[in-house]
Amino acid sequence: MHSIVKLGNPKLRIISENIKASEFGTNKLHDLSKDLFDIMLNEKGVGLAAPQIGLNIRALVFGLDGEMAIKRGISVPFTVLFNPTFEPIGTEKESAYEGCLSVGEIRGIVPRYKSIYYVGYDGDGNRIEREVSGLHARVFQHEYDHLDGIVFLDRVEDTKTLGFHEELLACHLL
Ligand code: NI
Repeated sequence: MHSIVKLGNPKLRIISENIKASEFGTNKLHDLSKDLFDIMLNEKGVGLAAPQIGLNIRALVFGLDGEMAIKRGISVPFTVLFNPTFEPIGTEKESAYEGCLSVGEIRGIVPRYKSIYYVGYDGDGNRIEREVSGLHARVFQHEYDHLDGIVFLDRVEDTKTLGFHEELLACHLL
């Protein structure tokens, strides 16, 4: 199993490559998808992108259920997407705290499109397309950014919102 690549590693800062049509349906993609889900769940993350395990290919996973979903009062379907793309629906953005397994305990407020339409493919090449909003749209946009070498810190507009998870909790900001 791969481990998480942390901020400072150049692999988090480059544009990842598309998966070739001939690779769909292969064990390579199924194994990658399993690895991403396993690491995400092990690290208690809501999403993970391939560059975060040191692979510069356009693949991401996300999902939220169980205890974590109850705590947040919202669930997100477990989804793997290869070669994803998206478009915003409207121009409205929402701001909320984000964190990242590659960044650690730091959180910051990031504006994201409230609603988006995304398209991607599962490991067998089946097309997945959805109109989503709220946390689902936020998580997608966060993971998608990783495929273009962007981390959430780049999108924090007010750096005064940055803080450690524990401290923000203690101050009732999270
Ligand atoms: Ni991240």
